[in-house]
Amino acid sequence: LAQVEVDVSALEPGMSLTVKWRGKPVFIRNRTAKEIEEAEAVDVDSLPDGLARNANLAADAPASDANRGADGREAWLVQIGICTHLGCVPLGQQGAYGGYFCPCHGSVYDTAGRIRQGPAPENLHIPVYSFVTETKLRIG
Ligand code: FES
Repeated sequence: LAQVEVDVSALEPGMSLTVKWRGKPVFIRNRTAKEIEEAEAVDVDSLPDGLARNANLAADAPASDANRGADGREAWLVQIGICTHLGCVPLGQQGAYGGYFCPCHGSVYDTAGRIRQGPAPENLHIPVYSFVTETKLRIG
């Protein structure tokens, strides 16, 4: 399907959902205040990949937390759940930064899905998406 619509009304802060879009897993997370705080505290210049990798923004948008979260709704993180190293599916809420951990070769992503350690070259990619209502997300 070119587009999928997802009801996220049941996702309280700290809860996640994985859906399929164009054959790929998409991680949807309603982040906790602590996760957002940790991601905001990071100096973007210190990141291995300084780009947001967000298909909703310009290609050169920096990897600030604001540019990783949903537009105007920073708690929401929507990402393609495919490690940018060799394509394994990372595990959520694991690893040294409390974000995502890829068990294949040990890449560690933070709570904004940005690569922090390991061989993956890029942050987790963010697909085109938008909230069509308060509780409904359209991906694609
Ligand atoms: Fe994820 Fe290699 S595929 S670290």
